[in-house]
Amino acid sequence: MNIAIDGPAGAGKSTVARKVAEQLGYIYIDTGAMYRAVTLSALRNRISPGDAAALAKHTESVRIRLQPGENGQLVFLNDEDVTDLIRSRDVTLLVSKVAANETVRSVLTDMQRKLADRKGVVMDGRDIGTSVLPDAELKIFLTASVQERARRRFRESGIQQGVTVEQLEKEIAERDRLDAEREVSPLVCADDAIVIDSTSMPIEEVVQSIVALSRTKL
Ligand code: C5P
Repeated sequence: MNIAIDGPAGAGKSTVARKVAEQLGYIYIDTGAMYRAVTLSALRNRISPGDAAALAKHTESVRIRLQPGENGQLVFLNDEDVTDLIRSRDVTLLVSKVAANETVRSVLTDMQRKLADRKGVVMDGRDIGTSVLPDAELKIFLTASVQERARRRFRESGIQQGVTVEQLEKEIAERDRLDAEREVSPLVCADDAIVIDSTSMPIEEVVQSIVALSRTKL
């Protein structure tokens, strides 16, 4: 079966999705990484997200490949390993604007559907249960309070990036707003998704509840 895990920035989707995939022997696909790779490429080529036509044309020419690595998923942009580069602040601050472009979404959605074609996939993102894989057998909407999500991001990378928790909280809230308000496949909880609020739940508990839910669908 396919498992869709959607939710706002910093809710722990990637960690949870990776661990669920590991336990079930499934393939993990981080769709946010694909939007980040397009954003990195647009930045390098000085294409503004405001220039919808140029961004669309550029997206059709980039090659993105995902590959399982020792510490999670590796991301390649035209054969260059950009796994770490796509996590930079520049990319994070711009990605939601790039992700609002209709062509960007349709190119990446096609790729994502192909990757899930043979089932056995845990895919995380914003629109997996609503748009990419509406027939996914299990849909989870993973959320947490914005304060808790900012604290988690701060612990992960805040110090290296020289930002405060307050700054991260503002940036995360702005990214949520852009993702939820865009016209094409916005961040919204699917009607048939199970909501898990991880604000005061350890990651391992979230993982175990999703694995248990998946067993009920077999
Ligand atoms: O998951 P992550 O925070 O890395 O995603 C980065 C951005 O990519 C999101 O804020 C959102 O704008 C975009 N995204 C999306 N649809 C997805 C996955 C990510 O629009 N399925």
